[in-house]
Amino acid sequence: MRSLMMTGPSRGVDRTVIREIEEPRPGPGQVTVGVAHAGINFVDVMARRGDAGYGGTWPYAPGVEVSGVVREVGPGVTDLTVGQRVAAFTAGGGLAEVALARAAHTVPVPDRVPSAVAAAAPLMLTTALLLLCDAARFRPGETVLMHSASGGVGSAVAQLVQALGGGLRIGTVGRPGKVASALKSGYDVAVTRSEDLAEAVRAATGGAGADIVLDPLGTAMLETDLALTAPGGRIVLFGNAGGGEQAPLPPAGRLIGGNLAISGFSVSGLWATAPHRASAGLRRVLDLIAEGRLDITPTEVGSLADVPAVHQLLAEGRGDGKYVARLQG
Ligand SMILES: NC(=O)c1ccc[n+]([C@@H]2O[C@H](COP(=O)([O-])OP(=O)(O)OC[C@H]3O[C@@H](n4cnc5c(N)ncnc54)[C@H](OP(=O)(O)O)[C@@H]3O)[C@@H](O)[C@H]2O)c1
Repeated sequence: MRSLMMTGPSRGVDRTVIREIEEPRPGPGQVTVGVAHAGINFVDVMARRGDAGYGGTWPYAPGVEVSGVVREVGPGVTDLTVGQRVAAFTAGGGLAEVALARAAHTVPVPDRVPSAVAAAAPLMLTTALLLLCDAARFRPGETVLMHSASGGVGSAVAQLVQALGGGLRIGTVGRPGKVASALKSGYDVAVTRSEDLAEAVRAATGGAGADIVLDPLGTAMLETDLALTAPGGRIVLFGNAGGGEQAPLPPAGRLIGGNLAISGFSVSGLWATAPHRASAGLRRVLDLIAEGRLDITPTEVGSLADVPAVHQLLAEGRGDGKYVARLQG
């Protein structure tokens, strides 16, 4: 079978190749999935860069979320059957014709959910939902500020805030050309981070500040986050897009005095340590899509050969929304 492979760390497409490799076979508690669509993610780019904690060994097979049909079930798997439509978190190897997944990381896809959309769910949409519901404890009516609002997770968060009861949505973007895209995704206010962000948030919220800040930018924006978060607010750190060193967190006294919480979120960590919580999130986003309450339209590329160029687009911060690759169908 054909699989995308990264042969060593790189900031470009030069070390990403398509290789013919042996098809995986499921072990105990595992399934294989004949991949129809695979999500393309910024985490693939972090692995390609060689960021600590992502990928790690070479060659690395990228791809962390897929949709398709169960091809084979391993010993002990009783709740999934061959031929069933599923979406799965794959922890690598998803950008391939056949992917290996734990059964606990694999859920059935409702009939009404298109395959291309289901492929965006195990990592991207599940992250957006659990960031809001679990990590930030979103309540209807709260103001949510999302950094990198025009990307995949960013565009999903805007819709989910509406689906979960509504609230003011403020998005930040890295360059002026992305403001329109963030507004199109549903943000009520979109600003570039070169502007005075704390002032823009105060103006948009009548001085109150944001209740929730979702921040994938390491600690680069943390001082600003603290300045624009309302008392009782929650800041969730969930990435390090720039890949640089992270600064120490503020002293406890500052959080106590400001009535502020800073927490972390990793969907991969959750799939690894509490798969029932991640899979409950995945089932819920698939249901929201089936009910027409979440409307995601990923940009679809036609083959594995197109994926390195998309990785480069994401690496250069030029992506717009979510991308998936069609493998079959
Ligand atoms: N913790 C988790 O479980 C989890 C899960 C999924 C994704 N994430 C993180 O969430 C973020 C968004 O993911 P995504 O899949 O939605 O990605 P995406 O669509 O590719 O968006 C990534 C965005 O990061 C921003 N960025 C900031 N510094 C960058 C840099 N040095 N190089 C490239 N881009 C940079 C860019 O937006 P602006 O220029 O507008 O800021 C870019 O559009 C990523 O940082 C990713 O690692 C975390």
